[in-house]
Amino acid sequence: MSAQLIDGNALSQQMRVDFSARTQSLISQGTTPGLAVILVGDNAASQVYVRNKVKACEQVGIRSVLEKYPENLSEADLLARVDKLNHDPSIHGILVQLPLPAHIDADKVTEAISATKDVDGFHVANAGALMTGLPCFWPCTPHGCMKMLESIGYDLKGKHAVVIGRSNIVGKPMALMLLQKNATVTICHSATADLKHHCLQADVIVAAVGKLNVLTADMVKPGAVVIDVGMNRDAAGKLCGDVDFEGIRQVASYITPVPGGVGPMTITMLLSNTLDSAQQSLSVNT
Ligand code: GUN
Repeated sequence: MSAQLIDGNALSQQMRVDFSARTQSLISQGTTPGLAVILVGDNAASQVYVRNKVKACEQVGIRSVLEKYPENLSEADLLARVDKLNHDPSIHGILVQLPLPAHIDADKVTEAISATKDVDGFHVANAGALMTGLPCFWPCTPHGCMKMLESIGYDLKGKHAVVIGRSNIVGKPMALMLLQKNATVTICHSATADLKHHCLQADVIVAAVGKLNVLTADMVKPGAVVIDVGMNRDAAGKLCGDVDFEGIRQVASYITPVPGGVGPMTITMLLSNTLDSAQQSLSVNT
């Protein structure tokens, strides 16, 4: 079998056409959607991510404000900046790019962002709402993965999904989203005794650990769907995910590529959350 690709670039472009129309509609109602992106320090990967987020906003007409600060910005100054943005009615989404320098408490900063502007979906109020099934901002990466499954018409009801990774940003919310769609979910992590055993049971595997070749073809049931959240560089410096793409594509029914898979979908869901936030502010103020 040769797996079909789930093309994150193509799906993103399709969704962003609709987002451009939504943006124009909001503008015609007097609200220009606005996203503030804060970058502290000069982490090379973060600079690329942030640039791509700003570019995507431009593409659909969302106003973005990029604030870059030096590595030695104090935690108090960052919190003061977040507080200002919380009270700025022209800003509907606030994103503080992670990781932050070690002297800044990232949890404290995340919790300082108003839950109503937390378009990353990282605030405990949004994490708790996701867990209980209440409406909230969903974290962009797992939400993008769900959209990719939806795009192939995949019905998760009764299926076995294995999530490799238990981060607050991807693994845990991913498991909750799959559960909400009635999948049976297993979360595997660094202390899992027999990863291969669990993966071989899976109809859907989401790999999100940030490690090369964490999943290989011998760990995948024929016909399974494989979603690769990883973003790594191999020995030759080539961008690649967490899974052995060439091997697994011979076994799986669908697979997401890296690059051009989950990455663009993460940004697309950030745009979606920002538009939802702007829409909500319109409802509150009318
Ligand atoms: N760092 C890596 N991924 C993300 C993300 O989705 N949001 C933020 N704020 N920082 C990140």
